[in-house]
Amino acid sequence: MSCDFLALAQPGVQKLSPYVPGKPVDELARELDLDPLTIVKLASNENPMGPSPKALEAIAAELAELTRYPDGNGFALKSQLAARCAVQTNQITLGNGSNDILELVARAYLAPGLNAVFSEHAFAVYPIATQAVGARCNIVPAKDYGHDLEAMLAAIDADTRVVFIANPNNPTGTWFGPQALAAFLDQVPESVLVVLDEAYIEYAECEELPDGLDYLAKHSNLLVSRTFSKAYGLAGLRVGYGISSAQIADVLNRVRQPFNVNSLAIAAACAALADDSYLQQSRELNDAGMQQLEAGFKALGLEWIASKGNFIAVNVGREGMPVYQGLLREGVIVRPVANYGMPNYLRVSIGLPAENVRFLEALAKVLSA
Ligand SMILES: Cc1ncc(COP(=O)(O)O)c(C=O)c1O
Repeated sequence: MSCDFLALAQPGVQKLSPYVPGKPVDELARELDLDPLTIVKLASNENPMGPSPKALEAIAAELAELTRYPDGNGFALKSQLAARCAVQTNQITLGNGSNDILELVARAYLAPGLNAVFSEHAFAVYPIATQAVGARCNIVPAKDYGHDLEAMLAAIDADTRVVFIANPNNPTGTWFGPQALAAFLDQVPESVLVVLDEAYIEYAECEELPDGLDYLAKHSNLLVSRTFSKAYGLAGLRVGYGISSAQIADVLNRVRQPFNVNSLAIAAACAALADDSYLQQSRELNDAGMQQLEAGFKALGLEWIASKGNFIAVNVGREGMPVYQGLLREGVIVRPVANYGMPNYLRVSIGLPAENVRFLEALAKVLSA
């Protein structure tokens, strides 16, 4: 009889469920025999504008170099990021998406017998990264769907090595302010690495939200992770980064793949970072789309969770899964979030104005059926 290779996997991996991504457009088109061009996907918090034309030009210019390995140190991108973020290049870790940064942290700092603290309803990769290295998930109940930072502090024990906090959080869109972050960082033991996940920070720039970079000088146990997948519109290329002390960056650099960020991603990210008007347009489109969806939910008598991301979680007043399936039949893909402990909610990414209308009309139809 052949070996049971599931039983041979390390115990944390055996208990893992794979990450469930948003349903791809082509998959739904195949399943329901639909024209992919008629499908609206608002399921993965992608930028609906398409990439910056400047990023596309940079990719085209880089194509002829594809026989070469990328610059394994990402010099050009790190230099630009260092100038933009007012840090040294040796404080930056580049990742294959910011997801990669989360995994590098787990590989470097977590192990069996240790734990990572994070909130209920937090981003699904935190438990995956933690369990994959055999560490324990120390999950803290949320408060009004947001992070309860005081309870998270209380949950830190002698075996805690990492705290993952997302601001704003996905899938809830909830956030906390500068004072709450400052108080939290002042009380976290210095030996516990705080990963402040700012995947959506470019959408949220306002006085209500702290800029994690402002806290790096005072807190050598802080790592801020960010991404080019959201407001910069490059999700398909997979590029993100972490900013921390030079020592933490050095540790992460030891465990990363030698060429974890590909050359097209580096070129595109450099161009996107320099394209301020694209970023500004992304923000404006997002703000307008958020208002459009909120007004639509209000008209339908639905409640939602206020969000500072490029998505919003709406309470459909009944089990979300059948509503999600009904929307699929209307050619609209959103995200059910029962796996995040939110069975009556759907998470909807902000789309183009016409996509938002399609979604709201389909939602009204499905809910009244
Ligand atoms: C809170 C949060 N962190 C990190 C990520 C990872 O994004 P990426 O790996 O594309 O940078 C996401 C993606 O959805 C997210 O929502």
